[in-house]
Formats: sequence, structure tokens, C-alpha cells
Amino acid sequence: MTTPANLQIEQRDRRYAIHPEDLRTWHPAGPHVAHFFNAMSIFFPEGEKMFIEAVRHYRDRIEDPALARDVQAFVGQEAMHSREHRRYNEALAEAGLPVEALEGWLKGFLERVKERTSPLEQLAVTIALEHFTAILAGGLLEEDGLGDAEIAEVWRWHAIEETEHKAVAYDVFETVTERPFLAYLLRSGVMLSTTVIFWALVFRFHWVLVRADGMAGDWRGWLGLGRYLWLRPGVLRRLFLPWARYFAPSFHPWQDDNHHLVETWKATLEAA
Ligand SMILES: [Fe+2]
Ligand SMILES: [Fe+2]
Repeated sequence: MTTPANLQIEQRDRRYAIHPEDLRTWHPAGPHVAHFFNAMSIFFPEGEKMFIEAVRHYRDRIEDPALARDVQAFVGQEAMHSREHRRYNEALAEAGLPVEALEGWLKGFLERVKERTSPLEQLAVTIALEHFTAILAGGLLEEDGLGDAEIAEVWRWHAIEETEHKAVAYDVFETVTERPFLAYLLRSGVMLSTTVIFWALVFRFHWVLVRADGMAGDWRGWLGLGRYLWLRPGVLRRLFLPWARYFAPSFHPWQDDNHHLVETWKATLEAA
């Protein structure tokens, strides 16, 4: 399976009311889980900026008009996500969390990564992380336990658009790599290192947020987070198989065709 020919990637310029006082309480599974999401939010503005640059670098090499249109839509969607997560992170800072220090550190880290890697390696990092966001987004939309706070809407919107554009960077990578076996080795190797670094950083940032809120010793909170990640819905447990499928030489993100989730969401929005 490849990207469906009739796929429409919509750009939705949405703005959400993100109030600092809601950031600890918005998730029904409690503040440790809310901070798991909040920690991921810290990565988006700089991370998605890097994805945009990595894909745009190859703009001139894309001849297929459908892919060129998808790239445009991808850039538009990621730019909106960056903007809303920047506002989200400002709200985290207003809530007294040490977000600026984490963002500053991340910026320096990504600059070092960009200095030491080629454009193609940066695109390989992008497709690895886009695969993670697509798996997390699909899981989040299927097992929707996010509740109905405004902040949950930010995550739903972001998850929908990550699902829509999940194959764009991947299709660009396939287009610009000439030797399939070397491309396979590159994307697989980069996925392994990206997996370790990305999750180490997410949990590091999560720990900083939880500790700043004085909840580091709250074992019930940690138990709740463990349940959420490993049992119900089991975000990390359910990550493993889709992650492993990435290592199949014939992998393509649309082999998991979950476009119906986007349609369901649109229908819900229209009904509301
Ligand atoms: Fe995004
Ligand atoms: Fe994305």
C-alpha cells in the first residue's frame, strides 16, 4: 500500500484557549499523565521546525504534482502545530514550570544534531519521528480517553493532522533516495538511534515537570502513569508492533490505513 491517491491533507488554522491553570488537571488520568503530554508538547515547536526544514530542503527534487501539493500541506500543518504548541508551552511557563530551560536545552541539542548530520540524515530522523507521531496519534484517536477539556482538543486536532500527513516525509525520502538498500539501512539505523534518544528525552523532560510540581514522590501518580502507558490504553505497549513494522523493507505508513479516524473526527466536528 502507498499513499491513497485521493488523500486530501487539509490545513486547518485552529487556535485554542490554553489556560495555565488547566495544564495539570486537563487529563482524566491525572497530573502525571497530563505532564507526559505536556512534556511532549515541549518538543513540538523546535522539532516540527526541523521536520519542515528537512522536507523543504528537497522541494526542488519533487516532480510528482500530488506529492508537491502534499509537501505544501505538510509544511502548513506543521507550522500551525508549532504555533499552537508554542502557545501551549508559554502557558506551561506561566504555570510556573521550567519550560524555558528545557526549550533552550532542546534548541541547542537540535542545532548540534543539524551541524553533524547531512540533509538526508535529517530527513531520515524526520521520517522516524513522524512514524512515532503517527503511531501515537492513531492510538490516541482510537482509544480516546482524553476527556473534553480544551487542551484535549489541541491533542485531537494535532493527532488528526499527523494521521493525514503521516506519509509525506516518507514519500519524499523514497523519492530522493536512489539506492533502495542503502536507503533501507539508513532509515533503519536512524530509527534505532532516534528511538533511544527521543524516549530518553521525553522521560527526562517529564521527570523535570513532575519534580517541579513536587509530585516526584507521589507513588499513586506514578502507578497511574504506569497503568496508562503499559495497561490501559497501554500507549507504550501498543507502540511496539507498529514500531517493529518500520523495519520491514517494504514498509509504508499507509499500510496501516486508519484514514477513517479522520473522517469520524470531521463528522463529529460538523455535528457539533
Ligand atoms: Fe505536527
Ligand atoms: Fe507531523
